[in-house]
Amino acid sequence: MNSTRRPDRTDGSDDDLDGPPGSDPAGDRPMSLAEIRDSYAEYADWMERFDWFDRLLTGRARRRQFGDAAGRVLDVACGTGTNFRYLPRTVELVGVDISPEMLAKAEARLDRLGRDGTLRRMDAQHLAFDDDSFDTVVSALSTCTFPDPVAALREMERVCRPDGRILLVEHGRSSVGPIARFQDWRADAHYRQAGCRWNQEPLAVAERAGLTITEARTGPLGILTAIEADPS
Ligand SMILES: C[S@@+](CC[C@H](N)C(=O)[O-])C[C@H]1O[C@@H](n2cnc3c(N)ncnc32)[C@H](O)[C@@H]1O
Repeated sequence: MNSTRRPDRTDGSDDDLDGPPGSDPAGDRPMSLAEIRDSYAEYADWMERFDWFDRLLTGRARRRQFGDAAGRVLDVACGTGTNFRYLPRTVELVGVDISPEMLAKAEARLDRLGRDGTLRRMDAQHLAFDDDSFDTVVSALSTCTFPDPVAALREMERVCRPDGRILLVEHGRSSVGPIARFQDWRADAHYRQAGCRWNQEPLAVAERAGLTITEARTGPLGILTAIEADPS
């Protein structure tokens, strides 16, 4: 396996971070890619510290969704590498993220897990990989934060082989009325604070990207949605 643990810091210089002119970052609540990156620089320590809590809430969904990923696997917006433990050890793992701080944590996690993997700093909306270069593309809790989630999902589809799989675990607007109303009420504040559209509808975003959804499951409270899409 051609592997390295070092995040490649040559991708995504600051000049690249605002995306192409005319892109629609986040609808009516835009944060630039640079702002998102800086926000996750602040959150990296916090996310690592509360990883146990994240796994408590999402571990089961991640295991079920990613546990049979195979071949060359791309983890888009891998963050601190929370997905890594749920991926079979046989896969050839490549992780990308826009945040150097998150990638440093992901690198340490690879070491702790005793796994190989390649980590690269990269914008999910402009993946620097050839078409059809992965057997499986996975991503968790990410589309809520991409300035242009539709572009990122289309990139996932482009780099995934036609006979491969796109596997997502996303969070969004709850199906429980009071929770959903709270999310709506706090949506702007939450976005400004964390760069996360927590009341988005993940399936609607995937449909807007034109993905062929083959399976979708929503968990308790309707907040987590596992989506499988066919890239062909
Ligand atoms: C909520 S965290 C999720 C991290 C990880 N996937 C997980 O499940 O724990 C969102 C991640 O998306 C990354 N991110 C945001 N915008 C990005 C972009 N345009 N390209 C690549 N990564 C991005 C952030 O740096 C952060 O690590």
